[in-house]
Amino acid sequence: MAEIFSAVFLSSVLLCALVIRLLPSNIGSVTKPNFIIILADDIGWGDLDANSNPEVRKNNTPFLNLMAQQGLRFTDFHSPASTCSPSRAAILTGRYGLRNGVTHNFGVKSVAGLPLSEVTFPQLLQAAGYHTAMIGKWHLGHNGPYRPTNRGFDYYLGVPYSNDMGCTDTPGYDLPQCPPCDSRSLHANRLRRKREGCYSSVGLPLIENNSIVEQPLDLWTLTETYKTTALRIIDNAREKGQPYLLYIALAHMHVPLAPSPSPLSNSRHSIYATSLQEMDSLVGALKSAVQDSDTLLWFTGDNGPWEQKCQYAGSVGPFKGQWQIKRGGGSAKRTTWEGGHRVPTVAYWPGRIPQNITSSALLSGMDIFSTVLSLAGVAPPTDRRYDGIDATGVLLNGGQTGHEFLFHPNSGAAGQYGDLQTVRNRKHKAFYITGAAEACDGSRGSEQHHDPPLIFNLEADEVEDSPMDPGTAEYQEAADRMARGREELLWDIATDQSVSTADYSTEGSAAPCCDPTRPVCRCHAAGSSGLHNIDL
Ligand SMILES: *[C@@H]1O[C@H](CO)[C@@H](O)[C@H](O)[C@H]1NC(C)=O
Ligand SMILES: *[C@@H]1O[C@H](CO)[C@@H](O)[C@H](O)[C@H]1NC(C)=O
Repeated sequence: MAEIFSAVFLSSVLLCALVIRLLPSNIGSVTKPNFIIILADDIGWGDLDANSNPEVRKNNTPFLNLMAQQGLRFTDFHSPASTCSPSRAAILTGRYGLRNGVTHNFGVKSVAGLPLSEVTFPQLLQAAGYHTAMIGKWHLGHNGPYRPTNRGFDYYLGVPYSNDMGCTDTPGYDLPQCPPCDSRSLHANRLRRKREGCYSSVGLPLIENNSIVEQPLDLWTLTETYKTTALRIIDNAREKGQPYLLYIALAHMHVPLAPSPSPLSNSRHSIYATSLQEMDSLVGALKSAVQDSDTLLWFTGDNGPWEQKCQYAGSVGPFKGQWQIKRGGGSAKRTTWEGGHRVPTVAYWPGRIPQNITSSALLSGMDIFSTVLSLAGVAPPTDRRYDGIDATGVLLNGGQTGHEFLFHPNSGAAGQYGDLQTVRNRKHKAFYITGAAEACDGSRGSEQHHDPPLIFNLEADEVEDSPMDPGTAEYQEAADRMARGREELLWDIATDQSVSTADYSTEGSAAPCCDPTRPVCRCHAAGSSGLHNIDL
């Protein structure tokens, strides 16, 4: 198989020919399953009703609850990092940021993205005959070879990064509230706005394949656009009889929130709850579109809630990171407290995944890489090492075994980006470094190094309140195990033949711009000019 996969770097035409010729002949005759991977942004573990006790459920996610009831709900599933780009890079490559090079976020002016030496699972499925489409937030580079259409997707529609990284004409709900693109205050107070996290110089673009089709885009109709496009992709693939991968990386639940008024919403509902319901009904529409087909639907999140956004942030459920809260600062997104990376995750596949089951297997978003490839009968290139594991046993046979060790990298809370600052093994979790993100009250906490490490027993203390006593035998044994696991991983990375480095350099001209002569790179109104559809 090795020679097949070194061919990934050859032209895709040649590769397709090779795959068809060299794969075992039975694979060609077996129909391959379809995959829909839904990645929510900044969603909290507690946002999924099915994750909480029936008494306290708010009924904001009826469709996801149904998906769990008719499928599999994971209780110990983690995003590979606690912030956007690193988490997404690890999901697509099945490798930690220390291998794939992506350890923090790319910006509007980033020249590059996910290193070109990395191989994505969409790229491998594409080479194996899948139609591959992506909708939504990419955040792994928006220029030239770094775009989704050059990283394994036949089709792309979406915002190339976070939905707050550009101004819009009718802004959604955010904290602080950002002004519209053309408002005078935006330009007059550009510095202050920038400090507050408002992007003012470039309108938020909507990109289709390699063109900007709207700038600034309309946040309030984005969900509908994504939904229509997703359903069209599913229909077209079905008509052609071609297996497909749809990766839909939602703008939900990242600020700015812009929920369209729905019959479910009323004045008693918060903006956050209404947005959650909107996201849930989009998932419901996808679920009903695929229920009579051989399609795995897998829903998960990219990291925990963005706590500093207060009423516009999600819920971590019981995973409060109490030790940190007592010392100030937020304990969700960007941190390695449970709220930062334990994400609501549900898999649904009628006829393949048993109904109404849960798994407490310790799993990660990186496992999507290995699991999906395994289900498609595709082997990844052998010239590099992977951190994702094949979780088909958990998915299809009710397995409860996952990673022996799972490592949580620093995503901005403390230390060097990408550093493995927290290790999980069975019920124990060791912190070598602790740090906080900004909390709703503005507190930030401070970086602390721990030698010996802080170790929590998550089974007895899921809120991470009281570390174990280092004098006990249980502590010693756990500390030894985790130190060994950490050393082994670092050695494994140090001896990996394929480790990438990301280029994080920026240039003003790298920002996606429809028309540089107009304010905020605005596209001409639809139909008014040929310039509307500008090649990037
Ligand atoms: C996007 O690319 C796909 C695949 O090449 C193509 O079929 C489709 O027509 C393109 N869409 C647009 C709007 O260019
Ligand atoms: C699903 O499982 C739970 C717990 O095992 C049980 O209480 C519930 O009745 C089941 N629901 C359905 C619809 O089978």
